Amino acid sequence: MSGETDGRTLDPNPDRIVSPCPWCYLPETPHATAAMDRTLTLLGIESSCDDTAAAVVRAPPDGFPVILSSEVLGQTGLHEAFGGVVPEIAARAHAERLDGVVEAALAQAGVGLRDLAAIAVTAGPGLIGGVLSGVMLARGLAAAQGLPLLAINHLAGHALTPRLTDAIDFPYLMLLVSGGHCQFLLVKGPDSFTRLGGTIDDAPGEAFDKTAKLLGLPQPGGPSVEAEALLGDPLRFRFPRPLLDREGCDMSFSGLKTALLRARDALVAEKGGITVQDRRDLCAGFQAAVAEVLAKKTARALAMTGTPPTALAVAGGVAANKAIRAMLETVSALAGVPFLAPPLRLCTDNAAMIAWAGIERLRAGVRPSTDFVARPRWPLDGTALAMLGSGKKGAKA
Ligand code: KG4
Ligand code: ZN
Repeated sequence: MSGETDGRTLDPNPDRIVSPCPWCYLPETPHATAAMDRTLTLLGIESSCDDTAAAVVRAPPDGFPVILSSEVLGQTGLHEAFGGVVPEIAARAHAERLDGVVEAALAQAGVGLRDLAAIAVTAGPGLIGGVLSGVMLARGLAAAQGLPLLAINHLAGHALTPRLTDAIDFPYLMLLVSGGHCQFLLVKGPDSFTRLGGTIDDAPGEAFDKTAKLLGLPQPGGPSVEAEALLGDPLRFRFPRPLLDREGCDMSFSGLKTALLRARDALVAEKGGITVQDRRDLCAGFQAAVAEVLAKKTARALAMTGTPPTALAVAGGVAANKAIRAMLETVSALAGVPFLAPPLRLCTDNAAMIAWAGIERLRAGVRPSTDFVARPRWPLDGTALAMLGSGKKGAKA
């Protein structure tokens, strides 16, 4: 390790063995114990999609972690005209904004870089230009301050969030459901995940966004489709519930938008257009189909876990949908498992989840290392078969 530049292990004598452990400086001292015994304050940096985010999280040795700051600068306005996230524009915006967002997070938290125990940065999966921007900044800060650096999988950030907000034990079942993700994960530890299934094509948030576009509703599509659906009849249009006849908990949402397009076009052909009520009914039918697929597949996933999980947790923008949330709550009540939905600002992309994942990893004994690369694809469960799906916000795993 001699000559390594994590800032604290530089050693002029190339023959001496220098521990990479920033807590103890000894080759084999139990790393996790050292990390458990002290308060950890971490800076998290997130730039894998279209949110530039930085946060500071402090975790005392015992007691609840505290989010000292969480800054999220979205890019919706920059991509609006293109009907989806444009990777090049996203990367440029991250590069321009990251410095300011990190500064704001530190100022809001009232801490300086020297107060940090480590920096945690999203190293993938996501749009590679944005990921690289975050990783380069984190590397620079860590090297300049002699701080340990942790490469965090963005999906692990989402998957570990329930333990940032609630005192739950492993293993729990996580449904990640957003514009870019849709998968069931059995979370067994900070570094141990089993993917039970997920979408084989579009993510549900993406389907909501496309539906809104087809019906002339504003983006992001989820909230606008939900608002219309509230006033609609979910039984008037019966949209397909794909893969319900297939075993396991894989899902498909791409056929749904085609069915919706056909229903809309049939109305246009028949009446020359669609009425306000037609639109509400189309939204209600669409939302009912998504909710039913998610609910039935969640019941399957719960049955597949083996050991009963401590909770069913959801994350991602789609988890904000009241109809979907209500169905998931019913499913978990029927299975006798507590339902847990972190506050929306922690369900959607943010950097507090990245800082927290860093804390969890340190405490699990994962050694910080500068020896990593930014990855566009990075499945949490390396043993699971690759998913076909991508999602409009870039392939996630
Ligand atoms: O987690 P998120 O902020 O970003 C990622 O996709 O990573 O999720 C955004 C997605 C969008 O597709 C949006 O339409 C959807 O979540 N969404 C909703 C609702 N609010 C946001 N979908 C359904 N119902 C909602 N109320
Ligand atoms: Zn995300």
